[in-house]
Amino acid sequence: MTIKKVMVIGAGQMGSGIAQVCAQAGYEVLLHDMNEEALKKGLNDIEKRLARNVEKGKIAEEDKSVTMSRLSPSSELKDAATCDLVIEAVVENMDVKEAVFRELDQVAPSHAILASNTSSLPITEIAAVTQRPEQVIGMHFMNPVPVMKLVEIIRGLQTSDETYEAIQKMTDELRKTPVEVKDFPGFVSNRILMPMINEAIYTVYEGVATPEDVDHVMKLGMNHPMGPLALADFIGLDTCLSIMEVLHDGFGDSKYRPCPLLRQYVKAGWLGKKSGRGFYQYS
Ligand code: CAA
Ligand code: NAD
Repeated sequence: MTIKKVMVIGAGQMGSGIAQVCAQAGYEVLLHDMNEEALKKGLNDIEKRLARNVEKGKIAEEDKSVTMSRLSPSSELKDAATCDLVIEAVVENMDVKEAVFRELDQVAPSHAILASNTSSLPITEIAAVTQRPEQVIGMHFMNPVPVMKLVEIIRGLQTSDETYEAIQKMTDELRKTPVEVKDFPGFVSNRILMPMINEAIYTVYEGVATPEDVDHVMKLGMNHPMGPLALADFIGLDTCLSIMEVLHDGFGDSKYRPCPLLRQYVKAGWLGKKSGRGFYQYS
């Protein structure tokens, strides 16, 4: 199957990055969000990132305008009717994702592939709300999307080989590296990363060290590019908590229990970089 036109749903940090890399690779892209301000910000962020790349001499001014001309805003999910692929990147919540996929199944053309950028939720369960489970797949990009090379590709129980191959080929065209993983909670990336972040939060909760010192240990001692608490703020503490809950529920193992401090911060609206405060403060 040939993919020419893509809709990205959710213009937050992931959706805006996914829309950017698709447009840079030559795809026509509709960026959709239910929140008009978020949609404007998502497109604006893409323009700013491309402008920075022009300033750095990484791309020509013309590349920036061609990329921007391939991107259009969409305020209605039914605009998916003209797309070959939809990549969903809304909040990490099963009820919200299921509602989106149910509606998409009604409005997207019958040949279209429906992909989710979920960090941890079961693709098989998302696919089950549609009449086309063989055309539903996980396409898990990493943050920041324009920089990170990996895309985890998750096959649901019923995902067809044809769907898998089309998504693998597209990932290559985005100049990313696809890695196939099975549909288990947290896949590979977040089954390993998120318990480390959660444990880092426990060290702060238990008073073992300050957030700054925990991050120093992991940056200077383990050569991580960012400490786990700065990374948690960067990912979004709401997303981190949702992922820990999926791991905890999915495996039924207490080793995945979310740290109470993480719950408290999310309840307070301290979501990390995107809300201005998490383990650190952002201006
Ligand atoms: N968006 C786009 N590009 C960005 C960016 C952003 N938010 N932040 C940095 N960059 C780019 C910069 O423009 C720069 O590009 P050039 O090399 O072309 O100039 C490059 O990244 C390096 O940036 P900096 O020099 O400013 O900073 P850095 O060297 O500290 O790198 C980083 C920044 C790439 C974010 C690095 O700190 C890093 O790799 N951090 C870890 C990121 C990570 O672990 N991501 C995975 C998160 S988990 C996930 O995504 C899965 C999930 O489901 C939660
Ligand atoms: P975000 O909070 O930055 O953005 C989510 C966007 O979705 C918001 O703009 C919101 O308005 C929009 N939205 C919510 N419900 C919607 C709906 N029903 N229809 C249309 N738009 C809707 O979140 P994010 O960090 O971009 O994460 C998005 C998804 O990507 C989540 O599933 C998350 O787990 C996954 N993910 C996140 C990261 C990360 O590091 N943040 C990495 C990989 C995958």
